Amino acid sequence: MSSTQDILVHTEAGVATLTFNRADKKNSITEAMYTAMADALEQAAQDAAVRCLVFQGDLAIFSAGNDIADFLQQAAKGGPAPAVQGERPVWRFLRLLAGFPKPLVAAVCGPAVGIGTTLLLHCDLVYAGDNAAFSLPFVNLGLCPEAASSLLLPQMLGYHRAAEALLLGEPFLAEAALEVGLVNRVVPPSECNALAQAQARKLAAKPLAALVETKRLMKAGQASLVRTRMDEEGASFASLMAGPAAKEAFTAFMEKRRPDFSRC
Ligand code: COA
Repeated sequence: MSSTQDILVHTEAGVATLTFNRADKKNSITEAMYTAMADALEQAAQDAAVRCLVFQGDLAIFSAGNDIADFLQQAAKGGPAPAVQGERPVWRFLRLLAGFPKPLVAAVCGPAVGIGTTLLLHCDLVYAGDNAAFSLPFVNLGLCPEAASSLLLPQMLGYHRAAEALLLGEPFLAEAALEVGLVNRVVPPSECNALAQAQARKLAAKPLAALVETKRLMKAGQASLVRTRMDEEGASFASLMAGPAAKEAFTAFMEKRRPDFSRC
């Protein structure tokens, strides 16, 4: 069990709300935070009092993705060993997220980087503030996609727009996310969390078994494909993390300079 204050979990009226609470580091996610999020998902899945779960950040930032200092530490050790890789908190979190049986809702304001965007591919309803910016800079960090985003993003955006997002790593804004169906509605940031809560409470008032079965059926066609792709991505991610490009990218970020990939 983790006891970090960087993830807050609050349950009310059948809705568990998980809040990123590390604004000084742009809600980037540490190993302790992944453990807290995985624990929260595990508990929420089992707890009959929870019927829906909401992810939210604050009004200026959803999440800057994985903590890059954590990445740098792993890269310095040659990346996680493949056997250990599957046990890491981030992969535990992703497995629980992809298999979470009850409805998942997200309220996204400000930047949603890396896993801040890929986790949304596993949410059922996504509401965005008009300041939301989604980005998947894995290649820019010498890495590859995770959370089965290499499968789900081309399906959602079409191959060429997914390639723009995943190969160039350029951010796309709330209206573009709405157009491709990554988000359900765009509202002023000050209304976003309240809208997500209102929708979550509507879901929580519905018969749970019918919700769970409907979600399972909608995802049944590719649940095993998602798990297989996540494993494949995990193996590639671990090997790229041990490479020179990732180390250079992480070091450059921490040193607040542009990375030099001329020798990578
Ligand atoms: N990991 C660790 N620290 C991070 C971080 C991350 N992913 N993202 C931001 N921070 C830290 C910065 O190092 C800085 O710390 P400092 O105040 O001790 O110097 C602080 O958060 C503020 O970040 P800053 O970059 O100054 O904020 P910004 O408003 O100018 O930009 C972002 C916000 C999210 C656009 C930018 O921080 C960013 O691009 N972060 C990295 C995203 C990323 O590549 N994530 C990995 C995805 S796989």
